[in-house]
Amino acid sequence: VEIDWDAETAEKAGCESFMLKEIHEQADAVAETIADRVADRDRIDLGDLGAIDDAFLRAARRVVVVACGTSYHAGLIGRYAIERWARVPVEMDIASEYRYRDPVVGPGDLVIGISQSGETADTLAAMRLARARGAKVLAIVNVMGSQATRDADGVLFTRAGLEIGVAATKTFVAQVAAMYLLALRLAELRGTLEPARLSELIGELKLIPHRIAALLERGDAEIRAIAARHRDARFFLYLGRHVGLPVALEGALKLKEISYSATDAYAAGEMKHGPIALLDEATPVVCVATDAPVLYKLISNVQEVRARGAHVIAVATEGNGEIGAHADDVIRVPATDWMLAPLLAIVPLQLLAYHVARLRGLDVDQPRNLAKTVTVE
Ligand code: G6P
Repeated sequence: VEIDWDAETAEKAGCESFMLKEIHEQADAVAETIADRVADRDRIDLGDLGAIDDAFLRAARRVVVVACGTSYHAGLIGRYAIERWARVPVEMDIASEYRYRDPVVGPGDLVIGISQSGETADTLAAMRLARARGAKVLAIVNVMGSQATRDADGVLFTRAGLEIGVAATKTFVAQVAAMYLLALRLAELRGTLEPARLSELIGELKLIPHRIAALLERGDAEIRAIAARHRDARFFLYLGRHVGLPVALEGALKLKEISYSATDAYAAGEMKHGPIALLDEATPVVCVATDAPVLYKLISNVQEVRARGAHVIAVATEGNGEIGAHADDVIRVPATDWMLAPLLAIVPLQLLAYHVARLRGLDVDQPRNLAKTVTVE
C-alpha cells in the first residue's frame, strides 16, 4: 500500500511510527474496552452475548481458549484470572495445534477464540470445530464485521481502535482487559468472589487506564538507555512466574518480531532445566518481577541468573524495595492489584523492544516476513 507521506505523518499524530503511537493509545484502549461494562462498581455488564446467556455461563463445565500469537498470550493471562476468581477449569491451546488434535470438547464447554483481526485462519478453524462438536463459542475480537463475529455464538468486542503496526500492542492490553471482564462476570454469576472483593477488583480495573497514562507520561528515556546498552546483544532471555509468565512471553515476542533478536521466554522456575546453559556475561535477562505472592520465588531465580554474571533487567512495582539489590536495571510500574499487573508490566517491555529495533535502524511498523493478518494456515 502506498501512503502519501504527509497523510501518513498526520495519521501518526506526531509519532515517529504507528507502533509508538499505538503504545501511547493503550490507556484509551483499556478505558474503551471496560467503559460501560464496569459502569456499576458492583457488577460487570457484558451486554448481549447472543446464545451465551447467563444460565450457560453459570453452568459451563469448562473454558477452552484458542488463539495465535499475541492473542494467545492474552488468553494465558485470562486463564489465571478465570481459574482464580471463577474457579472454572481452563484449557488453552494454540489454534493451529488444537484443530489437529481431535480435541475432547462438546456441550457445556465455553470455547473462547481470541483474535485481533477476527480473520486468522487457524483460529477460525478451531472455533468452527468446537462449535460443530456442540460447544458454545465466544469470539473476543477487535474488528467489527470480521469473520469470527459471524462464526461465533456470541461476541465480546475489544475496543482498541484500528491498529496498523504489525506487532500488536494496544489490542493486546484490550484483549487482556476483556479476559479480566469475562473472568469477573463468571465469578459474579457463580458466586465465587466475595461481593466486596469483586467491587475492589472492578475499582482497580477502572484505575488501570490512569495508571497506564501515568506510566507513559514518565517518558521512556530510561528504557531507551537500557536498550542502548544491549542494542548489540544477540540473545535475550525473558523470565516470569504466574501472570508474569505471559508478560515475559509477550515481551519476548515483541523483541523478536521487530528487532530480529533471538529470544526465549521461560517460566522462571523452569530455567534451571535448560536456558541457564545459555547465560553468560553478555546475556540480558528481562524479569517480570511485579508484586505477587510468588515474587520471592522469582527473586531466588534471579539470583541464579546473577550468579552466572548475566545482566538482569527487572520490571518491578513502584515502592518495592526487595528487587533493587538483585537487578542491574529496574523499570518501575505503578502499583495495582497483583493479578492486574500484566496490563502495566507489558508497557515497558513493548518500549524496550521498540527502542532496540529503532537503534538497529529497523522498520518497526512493518517487520520482515510478518503480516498483520494471517488468513492462510
Ligand atoms: C499475526 C500478527 C500478530 C497476531 C497474530 C494473531 O501473526 O502479526 O500480531 O498476534 O497474527 O492474529 P489475530 O488477528 O488472530 O489476533
